[in-house]
Order: sequence, then C-alpha cells, then structure tokens
Amino acid sequence: MMTIPELRQYKRGKKLIVVTAYDALFARIVEQAGIETILVGDSLGVVVQGKANTLSVSMDDMLYHTKLVAGAVKKALVIGDMPFMSYQASREDALRNAGRLVQAGAQAVKLEGGAAVVDRVEAMTQVGIPVVGHLGMTPQSVHQYGGYKVQGKDKNQAKAMLDDAKALETAGAVAVVLEAIPAELAKSMTAQLTIPTIGIGAGPYCDGQVLVLYDLLGMFDEFVPKFVKPYAHLKADALQALRRYKEEVEQGKFPSDSESYR
Ligand code: KIV
Repeated sequence: MMTIPELRQYKRGKKLIVVTAYDALFARIVEQAGIETILVGDSLGVVVQGKANTLSVSMDDMLYHTKLVAGAVKKALVIGDMPFMSYQASREDALRNAGRLVQAGAQAVKLEGGAAVVDRVEAMTQVGIPVVGHLGMTPQSVHQYGGYKVQGKDKNQAKAMLDDAKALETAGAVAVVLEAIPAELAKSMTAQLTIPTIGIGAGPYCDGQVLVLYDLLGMFDEFVPKFVKPYAHLKADALQALRRYKEEVEQGKFPSDSESYR
C-alpha cells in the first residue's frame, strides 16, 4: 500500500511511477502492472470527454471518476486532480473542493500553479490534505500560453519556476509535477528541492514520471506531444477487432456454433 510518507521518500533513488486512470477497469489493470500511484487527471476532459482542453471539466466530473478509481484499487495511492475554477477563486473554495475529492477517495489532490496557489496549498496541508503541485506547461493556463508550448526556456522564466517550486515545497506540497520544460531545468529543480519531482515532458532527471494512460497505450492519437511514448497500439488493435466483428456478422460467421446455446 503506497502512502504519502512513502511517496515523499522517492528522492534521487528508486523512480516514482505514476499513470493516469479514470475508471475502475483500467485502475485495476494499472495496479496489476505494479504501478502504485494513480492520478485521476483532469486530462479526462480531453481523452474521455473529447474536448479540446481541460477547462470545462467540473468538480462533479472529477468526483465521479475519482470514486470509480478509488473504489477499484486495493493498494495504489490515488491523487485527485482539482479542475479549473475549483481552487482559483478563493481559498475557501479550494479547501472545500479538495475535501470533497478526499471524501471521494483521493489520498492527495493536485493543483496547477505557483505563487498564486501557495496559500491554498498551505491551507490544505494544515487540515491534513496532501497536495501535489504542478508547474511548467500547466494545461489550465493554455490560453495564456497561446497553445501547448514548452515553458521555462528563458532564464527569467526558469528562475520564476524554481522560486514557485520552492514556495510550494515550503507551503507543504508533497511532490510537484513538472510538465513540458527543458530537461536541464528539471534536473536543476530536482536537485534543489527536497520533495520528489514527477516529470511529464521534463526529461529523465526527475524523481518520477507520469503519463496519460491512453497516450501510453496508443489509444489517443488526435494530439500526441513529443514527450509521449506509446508502449502499445491499442487503437489499431481496437479498430482491427471491430472491423473483423463487423465483417464476420455480415458474412454470417459470427456467432458460430461455439457462441450459440443449444
Ligand atoms: O491531468 C492530467 O492527467 C495531468 C498529468 C498530465 C500530469 O495533469
């Protein structure tokens, strides 16, 4: 059983492996593969709901999917993602919504941003809700960035990101996701932080890695960032299976005797 104190120990040693999941079936498969940390990411807005970005994901969506995943796993640690506008407007909103995710079964919550959310992280930590930060290409700020672009390329941006990470750490964050930033910056941040860094498009030097499950399985091919490595090609397999099923029904080959009752 993975716990938050254990997660905090993943620092410059054994790698912390994280993957997203949104439903019970895949949560169980992830767990069977020996992956001990699951993020119920608001990426579900794109890969499950078919939207162009994560901005329309609601608290109700996150509560539903967090319940499905948390109710299915036996040992994995479940991190629930805080969707857009569930924590930005006020500290009270943030605290209440984080609490709802924990009541849905998450052991920790994740939110995006640095200095602007430090007081939220502090408030959650004070009431016993572990928080994972998220810096770099934070998808909820996609309009501000003008698209999904690598962040932290210039010195000022890199320095501001490091300051943000340190502020999150001081506020009590238990780990920080670094998304789409140069590998050297992630390396330097990893060396200067005492909490684990979890990279996605942040190179090999982070304390852990996270990927969106459907990207990793080769199921989602509408937008494949450079940092994604598909370890399977399940979309191709699914297409092949569905076409064969259609063909066999059309040809009268399915169902055959072995799929029929006598
Ligand atoms: O929503 C998500 O799945 C995430 C990961 C990509 C880190 O935030």
